Amino acid sequence: MSRMLRQYLETQADQVETVLVTHRTPGRITGGTVGPRLIRFRLDPAPQTRLSAVRGLTEDLAVALKVPSLRIDRTHEGIILEFPNPEPRPVTLVSLWPEIAPLPSTTALLGLTDTGAPLLARLSAPEVAHVLVAGTTGSGKTALLRTMAVSLALSNRPENLRLLCLDPKGRAFRALENTPHLTRPPAVTVPEAIETLQSLLRLMEVRDQQGVNHPRIVVFIDEVADLVLQGDGRNKPGRYPGASIETLLTRLAQRGREAGIHLVAATQRPSAAVLSGVLRANFPLRLVGKVVSAEDARVAAGRGQTDAHLLNGRGDFLAIGGSGAPIRFQVAYISEQEAQQELAQQQRAQTTSER
Ligand SMILES: Nc1ncnc2c1ncn2[C@@H]1O[C@H](COP(=O)(O)OP(=O)(O)O)[C@@H](O)[C@H]1O
Ligand SMILES: [Mg+2]
Repeated sequence: MSRMLRQYLETQADQVETVLVTHRTPGRITGGTVGPRLIRFRLDPAPQTRLSAVRGLTEDLAVALKVPSLRIDRTHEGIILEFPNPEPRPVTLVSLWPEIAPLPSTTALLGLTDTGAPLLARLSAPEVAHVLVAGTTGSGKTALLRTMAVSLALSNRPENLRLLCLDPKGRAFRALENTPHLTRPPAVTVPEAIETLQSLLRLMEVRDQQGVNHPRIVVFIDEVADLVLQGDGRNKPGRYPGASIETLLTRLAQRGREAGIHLVAATQRPSAAVLSGVLRANFPLRLVGKVVSAEDARVAAGRGQTDAHLLNGRGDFLAIGGSGAPIRFQVAYISEQEAQQELAQQQRAQTTSER
């Protein structure tokens, strides 16, 4: 830690204690951690100090600390104050990979938690199964999907795991273009998306009858709300006549996991107007990035008090699942170009070892 950072931490701790005392909610900073992106102070409140009162001072604390955002979290360690590290270190897939690879089967890398541990999502586990990624433009949703897809492709052979992409903007999954895990090009138009989802439903039924869930299929969907809105009422007749994209997705989310089909869907705002409650309820894991308001935070997280509107964007996310406390993490970034390189390198290594 640099001398400047050490000094900065001491000044900031003093500032926090001053603000708290001024507002008659005294407490002491008793420790903390410096993560790659975040500084976390542990606050030991005086007996008369209430958590709600400290929460009420979020804005005052951010002003006093001169930080763009400050978030207060209650964990088993106590009250935690989180704000950006002024000397951030990048969190990248390429730098993490040597420490964690290979990942267990069907397990995606998400990033680093605020305490510095790799955060993984095992899609085959019932408490993960399907993942909903939410956040405003620039929060890093597409980058998170790419990290997940690339980590899956790097750790699983194409015989064991397939990737499918639905991408109304047509740009999110270019890095995967030449991966053997991708058995067909990304579905970009509404008819292509419907066709892909219908073929997955047919496969799901066959697999159900045969009791098969292999190879696993992970379906990545960027901007799912756009797709649902665009597709509204424009279905071509097929095996599921009249079924909207939303109905198809809901069926897959409800029954896909047992057939080895997993959905990872990203959207700016998973509001009830676009994605029904039934559909959202079938996504056990939510990954929530920066949103624009407290109301959006509630909708995206499916619960209150997460303060997702106070996140910093660009890969700063909360993992929210089951009844556990949200886990804040920084997405392990990989650029499109790096992703292409890593995947090509892996393919070359595999071809060589098979000769
Ligand atoms: N994990 C990250 N680490 C660093 N920068 C990121 C990260 N995620 C996104 N960014 C930056 O933010 C920009 C927007 O990210 P993107 O994934 O396109 O956001 P979204 O899909 O939510 O609009 C990217 O071009 C990149 O520069
Ligand atoms: Mg995007």
